This record gives sequence, structure tokens and C-alpha cells, in this order.
Amino acid sequence: MAKKSTSAPFASVPLEESSSTPLYYQVYQRLRAAILLGQLSPGTRLPSTRQMANDLGVSRNTMMSAFDQLIAEGYVEGRVGSGTFVSPTLPEELLEARLKTRPILQIQTNPRSLSARGQAIGKTSVTVAGPAGRLRPFIPGIPALDQFPMSLWSRLVARRWRDESRGLLNYGPAAGHPPLREAIAAYLGPSRGVQCKPDQIVIVSGTQQALDLSARVLLDPGDSVLVEEYCYSAARAALIGAGARLVPIKVDDAGLDISTPAASSSNARVAYVTPSHQYPLGTTMSASRRFALLDWAARNDAWILEDDYDSEFRYISRPVGALQGMDAHDRVIYMGTFSKALFPALRVGYIVVPPALWNNFVQSRFAFDLFTPTLYQRALAEFLKQGHFARHLRRMRSAYLERRDALLRGLALHCRDQVQVHNSDAGLHVAVLLREGLDDHDVATRLGRRGVAALTLSSSFVGPTPKQGLLLGFGCAEPERLLEATRILGDVLRESA
Ligand SMILES: Cc1ncc(COP(=O)(O)O)c(C=O)c1O
Repeated sequence: MAKKSTSAPFASVPLEESSSTPLYYQVYQRLRAAILLGQLSPGTRLPSTRQMANDLGVSRNTMMSAFDQLIAEGYVEGRVGSGTFVSPTLPEELLEARLKTRPILQIQTNPRSLSARGQAIGKTSVTVAGPAGRLRPFIPGIPALDQFPMSLWSRLVARRWRDESRGLLNYGPAAGHPPLREAIAAYLGPSRGVQCKPDQIVIVSGTQQALDLSARVLLDPGDSVLVEEYCYSAARAALIGAGARLVPIKVDDAGLDISTPAASSSNARVAYVTPSHQYPLGTTMSASRRFALLDWAARNDAWILEDDYDSEFRYISRPVGALQGMDAHDRVIYMGTFSKALFPALRVGYIVVPPALWNNFVQSRFAFDLFTPTLYQRALAEFLKQGHFARHLRRMRSAYLERRDALLRGLALHCRDQVQVHNSDAGLHVAVLLREGLDDHDVATRLGRRGVAALTLSSSFVGPTPKQGLLLGFGCAEPERLLEATRILGDVLRESA
């Protein structure tokens, strides 16, 4: 039986009569979007052209032209004597158009019904990882999920669940599970040079929440925040979402230079930095730049958000200590995550907060999201305390070194003269610059068609004239797949010549 007809989803926003897009085409776009987004499900009978023309305030001819277009493209079909129906089966290429349709709907959202922050965040281009499947080589930021000790982890989780099941059902402390905070403090001191006690640590659901929380506690709408140019796009989105005005500061081989005029004239209250492994270029902030930045914060009553996202993996020199450990004035809010060292779906990270801010952070943690799920916090505390974390890191360092070397070998073999490797000393990706004349979006699209994923360097740029390059993740693919992916990259770059 045919489903009940409706015109509601596409009739609620008025059409734009003054637009250069013809009215029939606007109607067609609305209906097509409603079908692809599932608001009009397959088999639904559409209202008559007369009724829809009435609902939308257009002529019947306009309505019929829109219907003709939809029928021609296979979105709807007419059945003699019984009306027009959404096609029962949408061909795959139409379903693929779903994603492309979303922006149409966004444009139709009445901007006046959104806050200024809501509108600003809608314009940020945050990359959303797709559903789990076979991970494509070069996806940046994904660790070696194939190497994670699944059965050990499952045993720990099952044991926690069995032994403490009732206790796990209740609300938990906003600052996090105390033994996990102790274990993190014990790890951060010797391995990252962070000076902290467990009661300075707040457990959060990853760096993304740490940024959101920090922005809400420290910033008022319109406040300026210094960000590195280039900068992690999700961090930008979180800061913009808090109403911040971003002031990009160029990064060179020694990191962000706080003495640049843009920084000194900005009146910024916060600086967001990645000193150990600049995202995305991979450089390390020099000691003199670090001291200058700390000095700036102390003199200007400003805060530094230190994102130490993948500092566990360094291949060339000894690990570089955290900025937080050099801070004599308690101006640094240090953020770490288990997303890279373990796996991103864990959604556990931590903030080390200066004692004076502790109450505000914990109260805010409670106000926005209460606490991080207890089961995983407890399993993770055991994982750290029993030495599994340290063992896993050791194993992963050598696995990543092998993967990184395979990537560099492949680049030298297949992409010589086509790319310039920016820095490969640490982390889980390598940034490469493309030779003059190449467009990184175009290259990334071509790679995507050949089963290889890469993030464009230009998408991490805030200002108007980005360099063209790619971020090549080597964490999640085996050496042979990385080698093969560099061969494909070489082909794509030559074809784009
Ligand atoms: C610069 C940077 N910071 C932090 C993260 C980790 O974020 P989260 O802990 O929210 O998974 C990433 C992930 O790619 C990143 O690139």
C-alpha cells in the first residue's frame, strides 16, 4: 500500500522569488533533497501538483516542470490514474548524491534562526571520519588499530563489568575516576615532563572536549585567540563555536613566533599551540620560542592551550618535554588524549589544569556533560597500572617507525621531484608540499577515486593563500599498503601535470 502523501518538509521555508535560480528548479531541489535525506521515503505518494503548488505558492506549471525533472532523473515515478510516487528503489548513484545534497539544505536553513556562533561553526570544514571499514592508507590521525591488543582489553573491560557492575551504573565524579587520574599523573611526569598532581587532572572525552571546555571557561564571545597557521581544523571549529575570533600566526621551523606584530597587537586572551609536534607541519617549537610564549602569557594575563596530541611517538631525537613543565606562572592548560596512543573511539583524554582554575573546570565539566563513562575509565586505569600501556607504546613506536620508513621510501621511489617532505621526526603523519601548479583538493579527489585517502594541507589554513600539500597518515596501514599508496600518489601527481 502506498504511504500517506505529505508536502510538509519541503514547504516550510519560503522559496526565493528574487533568486537567479528559477522557481521550478528551487522546487525540484527541495523535493530531491527531501527524498535523498529520507524525509520522503521510497513509495510515498506525493500530493497532487495542484495541492503542492498551493502549499508552495507557485503556479501549477512551475510545479509540473519540477515534477518532470524529478521523473526524468528517476527520483519519482508517475502511475497512470493513481498519482506520483517516490521511486521505490533509488539507484546507488542517487544515494551517493545524498552527501552532495546536504549543503543545499544548509543553505535553505533560515540564518536568522541560528545564533552567530551556530552560523560560524556551520562554515567550518571539519572532517568527519566515515564508518569503520577497511581503513584506507594515508588517512591522517588514525593509529594502528590492527595492532591494538583487543583480547587483553576485552578481558579488562569484562572483568571490571563483572566485579563492579552495580557501582558502574551510577553517576561518576565530574573530574574523573581517581585511580585513572593518579595513573595519568604518574605517566605524565617522567614521560612528558609535565608537573602535576592527580588533583589537577580532569578526565574528558578527548581533546575535542578539552578544547570546548577550556574555551567556555576562559573566553567570552568576541575574544581573540592566537592559533598557529596552519592549524588543526577541529580545534578551530571548537574555538569558533565558543564565539572566539581567531588570529592566525605564521609557524616556521621553530614554531609559533609570539613576537610577530599580529600577535602583539591582538589583545588575545588565549593561544592554542601544538609545541611538541606542530599540527599539521610537524615542527617542534624551539626553547627560545617556548620561553617567549610563556613570558607573553604571564605578562598579558593570558592562557596557553597546549595540545600534546601525539607526543608519544618520536623517531629521531629524544622526546621533547611539554611546555607545561617549563611554566613557572601557571599559565598553561595541558591537553592529552588516548586517541592516538590507543584508539580514538575510546574517547578518553585529560586536561592538566593550573590549581587556581581547578574548580571552574570541574564545575564546567559537570555542567556540560557530567562525566566520562566509568567503565572505560576503570579499564583504562588498570591498563596503565598493570604496565600494558607502556608495553603497547614501546611496541607501537617500532611499528610506526617501520611504517614511516616505508612511506618515506615510497615517496623517494615514486614521487621524487613531485613532493617535498616537510618533517617526519614524530607523530603519525607526514606533511608534504606539492610542486607549483598543483591543487591539493584536486589531487586528494583523484586519490580518493583510486582508494587512497589524504587530507589536504590547505584545509588546515586559516588565511587566504595556503600552500598546496597533503597530510599522509602512516599510522593505520601496513608498510606494503603504504608503498603501494605512494605508487598511486606518484601516478596521480604525474597525471595532474
Ligand atoms: C592536533 C590534534 N589534536 C588532538 C587530536 C585528538 O583529538 P581527540 O582526542 O578529540 O580524538 C587530533 C586528532 O587528529 C589532532 O590532530
